[in-house]
Amino acid sequence: MITACLFDLDGVIVDTARFHYKAWRRLAAGLGFGFTEHDNERLKGVSRMRSLDILLETGGMTGRFTDTDKQKMADVKNGWYLEYVAAMTSSDVLPGVTDFIADLRRHGVATALASSSRNAEVILRRTGITALFDAVVDGNDITRAKPDPQVFLTAASRVGAGPGGCVVFEDAEAGVEAAVAAGMRCVGIGSAERLSHADAVLSGLEGVDYEYLKKAIDHE
Ligand code: BG6
Ligand code: MG
Repeated sequence: MITACLFDLDGVIVDTARFHYKAWRRLAAGLGFGFTEHDNERLKGVSRMRSLDILLETGGMTGRFTDTDKQKMADVKNGWYLEYVAAMTSSDVLPGVTDFIADLRRHGVATALASSSRNAEVILRRTGITALFDAVVDGNDITRAKPDPQVFLTAASRVGAGPGGCVVFEDAEAGVEAAVAAGMRCVGIGSAERLSHADAVLSGLEGVDYEYLKKAIDHE
């Protein structure tokens, strides 16, 4: 039984994961080190400040900066990120997302956004998809980011669903871990090797509908 579907934002609903990467890579370049897409995988799903700590660790710069310096760096990165976001339109919604969510709702499944981002609302507004979700829970509503399950448990309770009836859609390892910790089923979006703890892994949501989802996660 699927009562609710909970969607991560960056990399599942919209292609903003590449904007995060571009902005972090730009910050790393300013600090004098390179930052690869492979390095970037560890930043997916985790909070902005945790991302910065991982970035600095990658560059061998852990412990070199004060909290005030780090806050400034995170603000600079976020400024660049928001410049990229400002240019977004409805064409940046990933293929299949709108149709899939409409089909879920036709089948009486509740939908919620469950993101670690503090920029979720501006992204939903820019791309015109706020109305697709019965509830929006983001980095401003939680105290513990993924891999902690708080964001998913909060989203489930906002739509009145128990964890066992929820299916999470996630592109980040930290997000899959959070879904498992919440006691929810999880569909990974991306590489099956990286997201091996998910119940099923898809390359994206294009062509996916309610019936397809039921079959994909049906292990009984
Ligand atoms: C997550 C992204 O959705 O949000 C992470 O996957 C990002 O990469 C996190 O660090 C926080 O986002 P923001 O927009 O608040 O900096
Ligand atoms: Mg993501």
